[in-house]
Amino acid sequence: MQPLLNVDDLTISFGGLDVVRGISFSLQRGRVLALVGESGSGKSMTAHAIMRLVPRPGRITSGKITFCGKELLALPEHSMRQMRGKDISMIFQEPMTSLNPVLTVGRQIMEPMEIHDGLSRSEAKARAIALLESVGIPAPAARFSDYPHQFSGGMRQRAMIAMALACSPALLLADEPTTALDITIQRQILGLIKDLAQSRDMGVLLITHDLGVVAECADDVSVMYAGQLLEQSTAEVFFREPLHPYARMLMECAPLVGNHERQRLPFIPGSVPRPGEIQEGCLFRPRCPLAQPSCREPQPMRCIGGDHMVRCCLAKNL
Ligand SMILES: Nc1ncnc2c1ncn2[C@@H]1O[C@H](COP(=O)(O)OP(=O)(O)O)[C@@H](O)[C@H]1O
Ligand SMILES: [Mg+2]
Repeated sequence: MQPLLNVDDLTISFGGLDVVRGISFSLQRGRVLALVGESGSGKSMTAHAIMRLVPRPGRITSGKITFCGKELLALPEHSMRQMRGKDISMIFQEPMTSLNPVLTVGRQIMEPMEIHDGLSRSEAKARAIALLESVGIPAPAARFSDYPHQFSGGMRQRAMIAMALACSPALLLADEPTTALDITIQRQILGLIKDLAQSRDMGVLLITHDLGVVAECADDVSVMYAGQLLEQSTAEVFFREPLHPYARMLMECAPLVGNHERQRLPFIPGSVPRPGEIQEGCLFRPRCPLAQPSCREPQPMRCIGGDHMVRCCLAKNL
């Protein structure tokens, strides 16, 4: 089956420094793919590249992004503009920065439908109310006329999701969509995202730094580090047997799945190398307790059975 989204060897640079370094992955309809990694690893840039909204002076310097069989990087800007918010939409961590405070929530959900789908006001209103209901807003017809500040944080995030779904996109890019929310609301939103992926046969790229979030709702996992992918697998196989030492260490630092209290957790000493500091060989080597001389060699992505891929020469011996 042709994937909904295929990213092939994508590189993004800022002033000659690569912040995303030749990443490849694909996403099927109906599935949630988590892109997971510490802050600064290039996750948000990847999502922006898919929308073709990499901020200046950043530039996509190589690679292909194929969506529904179309090569996005080759499309004229006006076609891309038609696609944003209609075929591909994006939600962010903090809904207050994306919701307009002076427009009612309902108005904002109706807007993309009127623009892209040419619906009349009354049709758009009926669909907006149905969407508010489908994302779990109680009394949706009454809440339709509320302003964003009248909603709680969790409700605002639901409203953002309703807005993103307004034109039934095939692909939803969700960049840390639950980071600002408390754990109970976070779970509800993640459950909603997973249900929507299945019920609407939509592909979701879920960006997060939190493996707990991945465990909660991802079907597939790509682990990102310093602009590279280090491991890729189905979530089931990944949680059973993570192979990269970085993934294993992340796993030890993640709060236990099902644990409602966020405890102080151990963390991985050191930090993600900045774009200028990249060296030859494994990028995780300076922080890796298992590093060997062989880790100074270039590390290709290797297949370890099935769809499980890892960029570590030690992986099969771990
Ligand atoms: N405007 C910019 N100019 C230069 N570098 C940037 C800019 N924005 C982001 N970066 C760099 O790109 C890298 C990846 O950033 P980002 O995609 O936001 O990471 P993540 O979302 O994984 O936290 C970081 O090292 C960051 O410093
Ligand atoms: Mg980010």
